[in-house]
Amino acid sequence: MAGNISDYIYVLVRHDHKEMSRTATIHDRCLYLARTPILVTSDLDLLKEILVKRFADFPNRKKSPVKVKPLSDGLTSLEGDHWKHARNVLSPAFTGSKMRQMAGMLNKCADTMVTILEKAVEDGKDVEFKKYVFGLWWFSMDCIASAAFGLQVDSQNNPDDQFVKYAKSILNFNIYNPLLLIILVFPSTSKFLERVFGYQIISKETVAFFVDVIEKAMEFRHGDGEDQETKRVDFLQLMLNAHKDNDSEITDDEKLDENHDFDFYKEHGLSKDEILGHSFLFFLAGYDTVSSCLSFTSYLLATNVEVQDRLVDEINDTLQDCHQLSFEVISKMNYLDMVLCESLRLYPPAVVTDRRCCRDTEIGGVFLKKDMRIIVPIWVIHHDPELWPEPDRFLPERFTKEEKEKRHPLAWMPFGIGPRNCIGMRFALMEAKIALIKVLQKFRLEPCSKTEIPPKLKKGGLLDAQNGFWLRMTKRM
Ligand code: HEM
Repeated sequence: MAGNISDYIYVLVRHDHKEMSRTATIHDRCLYLARTPILVTSDLDLLKEILVKRFADFPNRKKSPVKVKPLSDGLTSLEGDHWKHARNVLSPAFTGSKMRQMAGMLNKCADTMVTILEKAVEDGKDVEFKKYVFGLWWFSMDCIASAAFGLQVDSQNNPDDQFVKYAKSILNFNIYNPLLLIILVFPSTSKFLERVFGYQIISKETVAFFVDVIEKAMEFRHGDGEDQETKRVDFLQLMLNAHKDNDSEITDDEKLDENHDFDFYKEHGLSKDEILGHSFLFFLAGYDTVSSCLSFTSYLLATNVEVQDRLVDEINDTLQDCHQLSFEVISKMNYLDMVLCESLRLYPPAVVTDRRCCRDTEIGGVFLKKDMRIIVPIWVIHHDPELWPEPDRFLPERFTKEEKEKRHPLAWMPFGIGPRNCIGMRFALMEAKIALIKVLQKFRLEPCSKTEIPPKLKKGGLLDAQNGFWLRMTKRM
């Protein structure tokens, strides 16, 4: 096949790249995909170089074809020093000490969820978990609304709340909408489709609502509305601390100039657009991922009774002396951590991630060209029988300290790896643990006639079950 190296995808499997570097003639192994060169590899040593050791050569992800405000100002889309500055500003929101302070807020959300469940779920009733228990109306929305927008939403008791209405319209946006597909393939048509069909990926009304929410929160917190002592501990407050006055905001023209360095962004702080973009993104990134993780874990616990019983024993033993579900108490529950790790291995909500090469480079004999995309197949790595014997079995024992030490550090990566991994990992794990503890304290989870074993998975997007997660909940005595 004739052509430039950059016209091809390389598909590498584990242990394969050394052989490939010896054969050197790239054409032997290439596939063609439009004009973007793509490398798909599950070679963990090569990935370690790309994601961790040589991160400076692979700092960004695929360029998004659509620039949808405010999402285009969120962390996932930013590049180079602009991303580095934003990540530096946002990272302190996710440290252990911030998680300690946020545990109280998450506990409150979980208590409301359990109170509602106790009233709503008749004993022994079958329930769809993703939608009802951990979905829109119960838990994740309130947690992430509190953390990202600083709002006390209580969607659980007020399903007609304005925030819930607009949030639902974002979360329900249809990836298969033909107009959206046209924009994804031909980004330049977005203005035309907006003019002719009035189509926007996120409606103007929705964006205006959230802009208003952020502006009010900014006014309130910068003004006398809230004194220092009562300031909430959340992502919004951290971003507000890094916000500078409007006249120092980066203009759209400046944003297009890729030559700015880290100091330039530091001097400008975070703009209002960026604060809105990050809040939106936390909301989107943190909502479906956590409810998906919780739903798959509930399914696994319901269908593996001995694991559920052992977990409940651990919860009861740990909470015998301390009733406050603090960060420290949660951290003592090793088996809970093992159960979640194994659930995230079997069913990682994000099945792939990617990086883009920012200069021509070579790793261990493999030549990587500028702009080449590297796809990290998380699902494939998590189901590789060489790394995980009997990969389809749910075995939390794979995550004892000893077992973990035996494995390659990149064998488990539901949150990605390296400086650009998931910023919300600690928050997500704490949220999931609090939710599981509270539910398991009150209810026993069992399969019911509608439980699909194993669940049929949806195609495309975040990992989800095609027919939902039907389980039976029985009140514990
Ligand atoms: C179980 C829950 C979650 C899973 C499995 C998950 C997974 C991931 C993965 C795989 C990535 C890409 C990492 C990489 O490319 O190396 C990512 C990035 C990201 N996640 Fe999460 N995530 C979860 C929850 C959250 C939460 C709760 C938040 C926010 C509070 C969040 C915010 C983000 C952001 C902002 C990024 C982009 C980071 C950057 O580009 O610097 N995620 N996540």
